[in-house]
Amino acid sequence: MSKSLDIKISNTGIATLTLNRPERHNAFDDELIVEMTAVLEQLAANPQARVLLLTGAGKSFSAGADLGWMKRMASYGEAENLADAQKLAKLMHTLDTLNMPTVAAVQGPAYGGGVGLVACCDMVFAAPEAQFSLTEVKLGLIPAVISPYVIRKIGAGQARRYFLSGERFSSAIAQKIGLVHELAPQDEVAVLATSWATQLLNNGPLSMAAAKRLVAEVADKPICSELTSLCAQRIAAQRVSAEGQEGLTAFLEKRPPNWVKH
Ligand code: COA
Repeated sequence: MSKSLDIKISNTGIATLTLNRPERHNAFDDELIVEMTAVLEQLAANPQARVLLLTGAGKSFSAGADLGWMKRMASYGEAENLADAQKLAKLMHTLDTLNMPTVAAVQGPAYGGGVGLVACCDMVFAAPEAQFSLTEVKLGLIPAVISPYVIRKIGAGQARRYFLSGERFSSAIAQKIGLVHELAPQDEVAVLATSWATQLLNNGPLSMAAAKRLVAEVADKPICSELTSLCAQRIAAQRVSAEGQEGLTAFLEKRPPNWVKH
């Protein structure tokens, strides 16, 4: 692994992934994208990792796509260009659907694809210094690959403003429009995010993964018999699962469930 990513897994199961390219404000190029995707895939398969904490080293959370890499793509053909863009799409999808809770500690500004990473996380904590901006149109680009995740978070109405203006907005605005869940002073953001990551360890790991899939399956769907029956199937399966049975038995026996480490 290059030094542009740092991964540490605590004894308790918190995997802290730090974007570590501060001299480029943690911008990600093709190499870093492939590497980060591979790291996330390895975490998904690692039973030691139970919660992902994503943060950035240095002043910025992430300056998004590496603009040198974007510019270089002009020398590639259409097919290579598309295949390359799919790699970023894969990174966003992998983060978005990771089989464990993902917590972002946004300690500094996030631009373009950096906003995309934030939008793919389950819980987002940000410092007042963490300004946000979808700058793509200022560069003659569009926030295409990240758009499903950002629009899902902030809605089409807000996306129309921020995609088109490219303006910077504060973490307070980001919280108001749903991109950020909670604000904390810069020196406390990591502490708050870690405290939440620690609390998540008390919840059933498989049930959290299933709850996350449930949100994806149910969000924005019309409430019809197909959907209500799918939801009934989901709880019917979960309550008889080993984890469901352990959680229910632990409650009734007034003891902690077996996934809680002492
Ligand atoms: N891709 C590649 N390099 C980047 C980058 C990016 N997205 N963002 C910053 N850098 C580089 C700068 O080119 C500069 O390189 P240099 O030292 O070789 O000149 C270095 O990081 C430091 O950036 P600099 O602009 O000098 O720092 P700053 O504190 O004045 O400004 C930013 C920081 C992030 C506000 C500014 O660099 C910026 O606006 N970057 C573009 C962010 C963006 O629009 N991202 C969306 C991409 S779709």
